[in-house]
Amino acid sequence: MQDTSAVPPISNTKVVNTPEEQEDIRRRTKKVLKRFNRKRENLVPILQQVQDELGYLPREAMLEVAEYLRVPEVDVYGVVTFYNQFRLKPPGKHSIRVCLGTACHMKGGYILLDAWKRRLKIDRGETTSDREYDLDTVACVGCCAMAPVNVIDKKAEGRVSPTRVDGILLAYKMEKEKKDKQDQ
Ligand code: FES
Repeated sequence: MQDTSAVPPISNTKVVNTPEEQEDIRRRTKKVLKRFNRKRENLVPILQQVQDELGYLPREAMLEVAEYLRVPEVDVYGVVTFYNQFRLKPPGKHSIRVCLGTACHMKGGYILLDAWKRRLKIDRGETTSDREYDLDTVACVGCCAMAPVNVIDKKAEGRVSPTRVDGILLAYKMEKEKKDKQDQ
């Protein structure tokens, strides 16, 4: 059995914004809103630019948008959840994507996804509370011959076994420790 004692512990607490972060979100959202007039048809472009600015669409930002366009909050939330281009959770420092296209599915993509979920203690579409990692799935990324495939920080890696998950996390831990040491 693989020794996982050196792998960093990962908290499963959900991400919560501090009052200072909420204030910052409101300020940056208002900055984006200044580029648009108050027309309802601007809702999607506004949300796209707010997400470009913040990396995701937190509740505080959606409330600002609803107030600015004078539309019910539920309408903004409805649009955000309808389009899968929008993220409700902040991105992590490292993005973990598991391919669930047909070839990867057949070669154990779901088993690999479960391994990540168990190890990071988050579900797909979520971010660890230390904001180090976010986890999601993708459709075929074009290297089916190497299935099952992970895309980590936009780099594809093929023939990934569930036990490789701990090795990848350990490599990140060592890289972080090295960087922290250099910054001292
Ligand atoms: S199905 Fe995963 S790379 Fe094609």
